Amino acid sequence: MTQQPADDAIATLLKEERRFEPPVSFAEQAHVSLREEYDKLYRESLDAPEAFWKREAQELVFRKPWRTTLAWQPPHAQWFVGAELNVTESCLDRHLRGPRKNKAALVWESEPGETRTWTYAQLHRETVRLTRALAKLGVQKGDRVAIYMGMVPEAVVAMLATARLGAVHTVVFGGFAPDALRDRIHDCQAKVLITQDGAYRRGTVVPLKDMVDRALAQHEARSVENVVVFRRIGPDGCRIAMQPGRDHEWDALMSEADRLPGGGAVAVDAEHPLFILYTSGSTGRPKGVLHTSAGYLVGVHVTSKYVFDLRDEDVYWCTADIGWVTGHSYIVYGPLSNGATCLLYEGAPNFPDWGRFWRVVEKHGVTILYTAPTAIRAFMRQGSDWPQKSDLSSLRLLGTVGEPINPEAWVWYHHFVGGDRCPIVDTWWQTETGSIMLTTLPGAAFAKPGATGLPFFGVEVAVVDDQGADVAPGSGGKLVVRRPWPAMLRTVWGDDARYREQYWSTIPGAYFTGDGARRDADGYHWVVGRIDDVLNVAGHRLGTAEIESALVSHPAVAEAAAVGRADELKGQALVVFVTIKGNHHPSAELAETLAQHVGEQLGKFARPDQIRFAEALPKTRSGKIMRRLLKDVAAGRETSGDLSTLEDFGVIASLRADE
Ligand code: WTA
Repeated sequence: MTQQPADDAIATLLKEERRFEPPVSFAEQAHVSLREEYDKLYRESLDAPEAFWKREAQELVFRKPWRTTLAWQPPHAQWFVGAELNVTESCLDRHLRGPRKNKAALVWESEPGETRTWTYAQLHRETVRLTRALAKLGVQKGDRVAIYMGMVPEAVVAMLATARLGAVHTVVFGGFAPDALRDRIHDCQAKVLITQDGAYRRGTVVPLKDMVDRALAQHEARSVENVVVFRRIGPDGCRIAMQPGRDHEWDALMSEADRLPGGGAVAVDAEHPLFILYTSGSTGRPKGVLHTSAGYLVGVHVTSKYVFDLRDEDVYWCTADIGWVTGHSYIVYGPLSNGATCLLYEGAPNFPDWGRFWRVVEKHGVTILYTAPTAIRAFMRQGSDWPQKSDLSSLRLLGTVGEPINPEAWVWYHHFVGGDRCPIVDTWWQTETGSIMLTTLPGAAFAKPGATGLPFFGVEVAVVDDQGADVAPGSGGKLVVRRPWPAMLRTVWGDDARYREQYWSTIPGAYFTGDGARRDADGYHWVVGRIDDVLNVAGHRLGTAEIESALVSHPAVAEAAAVGRADELKGQALVVFVTIKGNHHPSAELAETLAQHVGEQLGKFARPDQIRFAEALPKTRSGKIMRRLLKDVAAGRETSGDLSTLEDFGVIASLRADE
């Protein structure tokens, strides 16, 4: 647990609502060093977007320039209309023409502790080789390639090679179960799957290839014609079965590729799809969020540069997994398009102990660290001794993402990790937004612990009531975006009606984020979290509908309802209420079986924290489960509000009796 001195230090720092001004030495060298400068650029980005984006995108490589900055036919945007490009030329080729050629692009720290460094020239070479190999396997522009890997440089190569061909990647987080992988493959009809034999996680091997075999054995996944297998572990630590004709060794394909022509970047239209990333929504199956080429690249490039204040001498470490959007935007496309040195860490933050993160910072001289509040809270719980054992003086900037950060954790991070000298950027954004939307620019604006801050360039957000009217400063409301931005999602893959419905139908004329927020008198945004049926457990997005359908697929379950409960460590914990079929009986064993079942269906990270049995679920007359009520029960609070629509009042009593 946290020691007393740490508690005291934090208590003192929290006494008043503190403003943390950027340190002068930081601001002096920052890309944007004054609030007035931010204000001016922000105004320009809204009033003269043509001039703004033209200037800000000038470092990027376009084969053909755009004619029109934005074509907006709500709710469909086209950015940089008429341009042609291949995003990998901005991320790789452009750096080969100058001093960055031999600069480290990726520094990889494996979980067992080895280091591998790939320069931009090497990353380019490996990408070209895999591009040729994928072409040989028949991958063409527009085809979908699924990537199911751990945190290895080869995963980055897989993404870049796919993009280089103008094909579309869908990365599936390595923690997802075979059925979840199957569903994603099926939805996008992936033709090729790139994976590895196994991945290290907390000292054990996660058998990724076995899971692939289980997913592909099901007929829904029959679109996959070829599987590329990278040997991360090798036959001594991870035995796998290779299916002749379908499965190919990464190394053999790469050697063969050396004798093949090609590997050049295929120029595509600005709006050509770059990737599909599945994410949880409030209803039904996960949605395939579609991002396209030019707008996404410009969005992540410009945010990386300004929010992380990237400069050539930085060693930048984003601790997200490549399977989530943060990995896509802020490990791969944003930092590489800026020519940054990115650290990639393979394993768990606390392996072999809670000092690992800090030893990685010291060993590699990390200057920028971008991580999640859940991780910070977990470290905080283990006490400030751990970060103090390592020399963290290389750090100059810290960031957080994924969920609201409580001021205590913010102040702990600032003091014990940042040594009171590093600004913290609290970045709010989503899979759908593609790039950071709200934050403070680290050299230009003070930070307030718990507030994400101000809109990024080109972003017009508002906090509104149900009719779409602005609420007064300080009042809560729905967080919406009022104009299109370059990296916004373009649609839901294969389901444009769902795109319209989910994002553009709640508030007239605006994109609804699903989050609740308030804006204070300084114009700073405080995001309180999801107000739809999406949960955020330890920074992972989980749809209540997905959890519920995983549960009802178990023969003992009749009905299920998933809700969130505030949790000190994970932000939200997952609580499910289930009614069971007649011939089953509630028991601790059944609860464990059901939790395990969800883990097998979706992935271990989605296992419920608590399973509660109920005789019946409370419903409205129209048959809708009353989640608000269940949330209250889960939190142990009194029920609130109007219950007159309840079908059966007795049900509340029986739920409560179960407490
Ligand atoms: C939440 C992750 C508060 C929010 C990049 C959002 C945050 C959801 C923050 C998106 C933040 C993300 N403060 N809440 N700084 N960042 N969120 O799609 O609820 O995995 O809607 O994207 O995470 O999660 P997603």
